[in-house]
Amino acid sequence: MAIELDTSGKFDPFVDEHEALHESLRKLRWVLDECKSPREAAQLLAEFSDHARAHFVHEEQPDGFFDSVVDQAPRLKTRADALIQEHSVMSTKLVELAELASDCTDSDEWWSAFRDGFESFWQSFCQHERLENDLVQEAFHDDIGSKD
Ligand SMILES: [Fe+2]
Ligand SMILES: [Fe+2]
Repeated sequence: MAIELDTSGKFDPFVDEHEALHESLRKLRWVLDECKSPREAAQLLAEFSDHARAHFVHEEQPDGFFDSVVDQAPRLKTRADALIQEHSVMSTKLVELAELASDCTDSDEWWSAFRDGFESFWQSFCQHERLENDLVQEAFHDDIGSKD
């Protein structure tokens, strides 16, 4: 999911973070698919949650991801704001998943509920990251030479 645009490396840290987060999610999904270790699943979820929250803060900080996009293409501000709102929704989902993990019974029902919750989060997260990549594409590619 690399952003192949000449943005002077401005977005490289965010691309790297996206890739690292997706790698963490793939690991967690593997553990969930295997139904192997509830403790490992909870640990991977906790690590991913810490990284995801730090990533959200990084994107939202002054001169971060969203400021850079909106500075380049102010017309994208509404969509940028909507994506920032999604950060708090996803953070809430991660808290709910952590609560589910801490209530572990290691039963089939528990694994099923954890997997379903994770899949729902995974879909939201992937969609979110795709929309962020689209924003960069539109801001720095579609509008080359026409900063509005
Ligand atoms: Fe984000
Ligand atoms: Fe992101």
